[in-house]
Amino acid sequence: MEAPQFFAVRPGKPILACPNVKLPAWPFRVVSSFKVILGRMKKSKTAAPRSRTAPLAGANTPLAPPRIAVAIMAAGKGTRLKSQLPKVLHEVGGKPLLAHVIAAATRVVPAGDVYAIIGHEADRVRSALARTGVSFVLQADQRGTGHALMVAQKSLAAYDHVIVLSGDAPMILPETIGRLRNFHLEEQAAMTLLSADLADPAGYGRVVRKSAGSSEVQAIVEEKAASATQKKIREINSGFYVFAVKPLFANIGKLSTANPHGEYYLTDMAEILRRSKHRVVAWKTPTPGEVLGGNTRSELAAIDARIRHAKCEQLMADGVTIFYPDTCVIDSDVAVAPDTVIEPFVQLLGNTRIGTACRIRSYSVIRDSVIGDGVIVRPGCVIEEARVASSAVIGPYSHLRPGSDIGEGAHVGNFVETKKIRLGKGSKANHLTYLGDAEIGSGVNIGAGTITCNYDGVRKHTTTIDDGAFIGSDSTLVAPVRVGKGAYVAAASCITENVPEDSLAVGRARQVIKEGWVREKRASRKAK
Ligand code: UD1
Ligand code: CA
Repeated sequence: MEAPQFFAVRPGKPILACPNVKLPAWPFRVVSSFKVILGRMKKSKTAAPRSRTAPLAGANTPLAPPRIAVAIMAAGKGTRLKSQLPKVLHEVGGKPLLAHVIAAATRVVPAGDVYAIIGHEADRVRSALARTGVSFVLQADQRGTGHALMVAQKSLAAYDHVIVLSGDAPMILPETIGRLRNFHLEEQAAMTLLSADLADPAGYGRVVRKSAGSSEVQAIVEEKAASATQKKIREINSGFYVFAVKPLFANIGKLSTANPHGEYYLTDMAEILRRSKHRVVAWKTPTPGEVLGGNTRSELAAIDARIRHAKCEQLMADGVTIFYPDTCVIDSDVAVAPDTVIEPFVQLLGNTRIGTACRIRSYSVIRDSVIGDGVIVRPGCVIEEARVASSAVIGPYSHLRPGSDIGEGAHVGNFVETKKIRLGKGSKANHLTYLGDAEIGSGVNIGAGTITCNYDGVRKHTTTIDDGAFIGSDSTLVAPVRVGKGAYVAAASCITENVPEDSLAVGRARQVIKEGWVREKRASRKAK
């Protein structure tokens, strides 16, 4: 399917052109440019100020598109999680809840127009997400979702509309946000909320429509304040909204804390705006799974499972074979090229990239690593912050620690641990070995049980092994030390001095034979 393109909020600059976005199976096509939307607009008192004053036809001045911001409410503590960690930093799909929401937001408007409202453990949240380039607004006391918008008033005043997202609902797709925004602009509403029909609406605010079938909303009723009849309403408020900025801030002072939580509820704006004769509408998403919030550990687990399931589906659609996908844990940002096979119980985490035609066998955990093409990772490997070049063979049970750079066609075998090393093209370290802080050339053979002694108790030192060298089994290489090109190290040697090119180093005691020693010993024991 063709990926959608949202059109520019600023003329001529597409800010959401997402060729890599995989669309869900539901049918839609967002093709409305703002000109099309604005051209279709009815006249209304809640229209964006600019579109109301701009000439619609016959003038030379083109329509100025509305200025749109995104505000993400992310200041809450997340009491129901019973955690030291602020709610929005809890992870699903391998990254914080808020990181998912920011990623969706920045596909709809530029990061400079995204404001994350933070409060509980604000510094921690800010530093975890600083790299996203969004702005942060501090809500020092968290007095409710309505209060979150009050503190953001200054930042949002320069915009015509604000899309409000919940930092704890990470599955929202940029396409859905775009559709909600378009619906809001087409409806010329003061407030548009995203609603969803849920089989189990418990815990959510319920949407009370003006009348059945109307797009207009009477009120949003929070679970605690809902009557028995209202609790039966399955249409819930998702916590995603679009507001026209002027009517929002002209009326936000009317919010009160007269409710069971003693908080300013943003949801009360529906009734407040309606009473002041503004248009309040709801757009019901056809994909309700997107709106689920992570308020409890159980909800987090359910969201995590959905995100990972969707990730596996997407990879399979892109040509990756995944056997038993429900057992695989693959983070949202992982990339895998086609024709790679992922066996059951594999974890691919963080920013891992895997090439084409690889086989990742069971129980391997790969984090933040780059794996080339045609690589075999045998069962039980742990690979972290490492690079593995094409056609290499790793494992079973290898541990590649940060800074390991494994060359093309190289082999790292059973119970081999590597850290901060380069292992050249075609080199082999197949059994029971520790290679740390080492520069190893190509065509090198590292015998079983070889150890680089890299640490003197204070500092780390480098071992250099040049091309074609052969290290006999059970050798210890006491760094800093160099084994020259083509040199041999005899088995069980302790190498403390550099070995020149093409020479043999023997660093062990010569073998001694004591003939008849055992026989004599036995005889003396019998005599006692
Ligand atoms: C809210 C809605 C509810 C809706 C549900 C959808 C209200 C009053 N209720 O309930 O109708 O069905 O979301 O998930 O809005 N936050 C702040 N500052 C605060 C309080 C909260 O930034 O002072 C943030 C939270 O961090 C969270 C979001 O706002 O990311 C929603 O708050 P939460 O307490 O989770 O609201 P719900 O009870 O889920
Ligand atoms: Ca919530």
